[in-house]
Parts: sequence; structure tokens; C-alpha cells
Amino acid sequence: MAEPDAVQTFEDGLTKIRGAYEQALRDATDEPELRLVNGRYVGPQGELTKLLKLMPKLPGDRRRELGQRANALKQEIQTTFDVVLDGIHRRARDAELTGPSLDVTLPGRWPMPGRLHPITRIRNEVLEILVSLGFDVADGPEIELYENCFDKLGFPPDHPATDEHDTFFIEGGKPSGPHSVLLRTQTSTIQVREMSRREPPLAIVSPGAVYRRDDDATHSPMFFQLEGFLVDTDVTFAELKGVLTLFLRRLFDEHVAVRFRASYFPFVEPGGEVDMSCVFCRAWEGDKERTTACRVCKGNGWMEILGCGMIHPVVFENVGYDPEKYTGFAFGMGLDRIAMLKYGIPNIKLLYDNDVRFLSQF
Ligand code: DAH
Repeated sequence: MAEPDAVQTFEDGLTKIRGAYEQALRDATDEPELRLVNGRYVGPQGELTKLLKLMPKLPGDRRRELGQRANALKQEIQTTFDVVLDGIHRRARDAELTGPSLDVTLPGRWPMPGRLHPITRIRNEVLEILVSLGFDVADGPEIELYENCFDKLGFPPDHPATDEHDTFFIEGGKPSGPHSVLLRTQTSTIQVREMSRREPPLAIVSPGAVYRRDDDATHSPMFFQLEGFLVDTDVTFAELKGVLTLFLRRLFDEHVAVRFRASYFPFVEPGGEVDMSCVFCRAWEGDKERTTACRVCKGNGWMEILGCGMIHPVVFENVGYDPEKYTGFAFGMGLDRIAMLKYGIPNIKLLYDNDVRFLSQF
């Protein structure tokens, strides 16, 4: 329905916009401002947009002409917008090219380089020593057969280590047979795996993750061990003592004293545990007062460091070696424990929390 005032309103609107838009656009000093001003004319709520919405109200004989004028104005606004925007871009580029170059007085941002995890560092140090003594490095799976973890290492079926409270069995409860699958509880599995596929002489070490249902300040359900063993004809306990003493002295301090205590592990006979003089109070220096006050060895001057022994004939039989012909020794240690002792870390959880404040101290 044509309204008599609509033509007047339309024409006044066009005149007003025409008189103002150009200056308004040219006054804009940057792109966001320019776009804002442009929107006031041709945006969804812009003045010209609103006028165009009046078109249906114009009388038929004027509609065409006024529509053309409005569109022409819209086109002019677009052209001016383009010219002004181009000018803004050009000025910004000129300013960049002619302005001061780079502010070299700004302090740089320091990159945070990564570093090796303390357990990785210890593993590398330990391997370096043992490889220099002639040991090969082997690897094995963390998901293991029951028989490789227990049976073939001489564990009786009712040994506490095979209990559900100690072991993570995969697929349900306590296994029904040697082919059941579990997360290995010890790297001694490598003895079975390597001996089953190679003939003596053998000297092998193998670091890796192991799993037990254990969780407190000194135990984590996943931790790292290193297993070592050597098989040949005529290997004696003397070689075992020699290798381990040399190893501990290289790793900790050339002066540490080492002692062997009888102990039981199903896959060695005789079996033993190795103590080393306390590296915190430096017990070998004989300062009684310092040792008495030592929190780590609790004043007795020794700390337990690893398990070891002469490989049990039953293990040789289980892997197809002749126990009359071959002898050998084996040892196993917790790499977490060694890292804790070497770096004075009080709680095993610190090794697995991934706290950068802790890790960046190594
Ligand atoms: N596998 C043992 C454990 O997890 C450690 C160990 C003890 C390894 C004596 C050995 C050994 O090779 O001879 O507690």
C-alpha cells in the first residue's frame, strides 16, 4: 500500500546518507573502525538498508527510479569503503617498512628444553657399566605367560607371588594353567626367554617395567627392574661377587663396601641379597656419629640394594640346558630404588607424578 510520505522519507534519507557517508568513512583510522562506520549505512540495521525496506511502500510509478538511486548510492558507498580500506592497509605496511625494525632490547622467551627422566638416566648409566663389562642388552614383553614368570623359574604353584593379591592377571582371576597371561611381576622372565632361544655362553642384561599390586611410599604398582645373568661352563659365586662389587663401585662410589647375605629366591641356589655401605652417611669413611644419625640406613651403615644367586639347576632344565655342564649367576635390582638412593629421592611417587618442578632438578 503506497503511503504519501514514503517518497519524501525515502528521498530525505538518500540525501542525508549521500551528504554524510563519504566523510564518515574517510575519518576512520583503522580497519575495525572503518567496518563499524560502513555497517551504520549498509549493515543489517544500517540507514540505507532500512530505506530499502521501505521500497514496497513507494508508489508504483516512482519505485523503479528511487530503487535505482538507492542502489547506485549503495555502490558508491562500497567503492569508497574499498578505497579507504586500501589506504589503511597501505599506511600500515609503510609504517612497518619505515618504522624501527626489531626491538632487540626485549628479553627473549627462554625455551623449556626437555630432559631425560631420572629413571631413564639411571637405566642408561647402569647399562653403560654393564655393557662395558661385556653384557648384551635384551628386551622382553610386559604382558607375559604365567609359565615364563613363575613355573619355569621354579616357583611352586602356591608361592605367594603368584597370588591375586600380588599379581595383575589378565582376563580374570588366578590362572588355570601355564598359558594364562599376566603383567610380568619381575624381569627374571628374560632368563627364561633368552636361555630358551640361545646357547651359552651368555651374558645378558634387561631393563624394563614390571607390575605388582603394591602401592605406598616405596612401592608403585608399575616400576622398573633390571635383570642380569651370565651362563657358561665353570661360572662360580666368585664371578658373581666380582661383577656386582665392581658394578656397585662404579655406579655409586669406588669406596663402597659390599656384603652378601643368604636369602631365598626360587630360581637361584644359593641365593643372596647384596648390601652396600650407606652412600648417604658415607659409612665406609667410619664416622660413627654421622652414621648413627643417618635417616637412610638408620645407623647400621648398610643398605639393601639387590638380589642375586647362582642359577638353579631346575631353571636350566626348564630351558633345555644341561645343568651338569653349565653354571651361571643372576641378579635383579629395582631401577627406581637405585634412582632414589643415588639422587636422594624420598618418595617413589615423585618419579611418576610428572611434576616439572621435581623433574627439572635432574
Ligand atoms: N626377580 C627378583 C624380584 O623381583 C629379583 C631377583 C632376585 C633377581 C635374585 C635375580 C636374583 O636374578 O638372582 O624380587
